[in-house]
Amino acid sequence: MYLPSFSLKGKLAFVTGATKGIGRAISLAFAESGADLILVSRTESELDNVKEEAKRYGGNVYTVCGDVNNYESIMAKMDDMIGMRPLDIFVNNVGMNIRSKAVDVTESEWNQIVDTNMKSAFFLAQGAAKRMQHNKNAKIINISSVGGHVALRTGVVYAMTKSAIIQMTKNLALEWGEYGIRVNAIGPWYFPTALTERLLENEEYKKEVVSRTPLGRVGKLEELAGTAVFLASDASNYITGQTLFVDGGMTIYGF
Ligand SMILES: NC(=O)c1ccc[n+]([C@@H]2O[C@H](COP(=O)([O-])OP(=O)(O)OC[C@H]3O[C@@H](n4cnc5c(N)ncnc54)[C@H](OP(=O)(O)O)[C@@H]3O)[C@@H](O)[C@H]2O)c1
Repeated sequence: MYLPSFSLKGKLAFVTGATKGIGRAISLAFAESGADLILVSRTESELDNVKEEAKRYGGNVYTVCGDVNNYESIMAKMDDMIGMRPLDIFVNNVGMNIRSKAVDVTESEWNQIVDTNMKSAFFLAQGAAKRMQHNKNAKIINISSVGGHVALRTGVVYAMTKSAIIQMTKNLALEWGEYGIRVNAIGPWYFPTALTERLLENEEYKKEVVSRTPLGRVGKLEELAGTAVFLASDASNYITGQTLFVDGGMTIYGF
């Protein structure tokens, strides 16, 4: 018997930024794999839509409407809904970007990007870890970016925060290994979402992206969701502190 379980049946997963793009795809894949869900975003109507879709797979779905920058309030609302039930999986997915050139970055832009991508990610991971049972194979998955690993012309502050997520993943894995909490990250290259649609609409830019991708195309959301299911499941129990680049081979490109 060498085939481990990829099922998330009976597990409770908490996903931020769950109503669009990558977070939505991960949430629905988790639901399909049997998980109960707690979904977070700032738009109630979109949460209701994803909830309806996810419930078709038969699990329980809870929604928390709020801004991740108010992480204490998000956690308090979650506790009101699930009580003492421990979390099994946390996906730290919310991220935003303002693509100013380095000389033009304002303090307000800096604060928005750093607070949303880095500060809230840390304190939400801290809150999630406190709600995970010791030695029960709990999983934290942080969403970083290829932009946190190589230099791209898409915003220095965003890149710095995504690099910080890679380092946070290693440090938290080191500290929380003794509690059985695995902490890994996913580093996506280009996937078609609201965050990237303006860039990918530019044919010249898209051509450059594709030309730097050994697999010759941008990613499909289900390809990212599959990686998240693997990292959330018992199949990845001996992996921690790693960032898995889901990038069509982009980060091996040496020219
Ligand atoms: N798409 C890509 O190609 C790509 C590549 C590399 C890395 N990433 C990373 O992947 C993650 C997801 O990106 P995406 O492209 O799926 O983004 P997206 O399409 O813009 O979706 C963002 C999601 O987060 C929610 N959200 C945004 N700000 C929030 C806040 N402050 N509080 C609570 N919820 C918030 C949004 O809903 P509301 O606006 O309704 O709150 C939405 O559900 C990000 O961390 C991003 O940096 C994406």
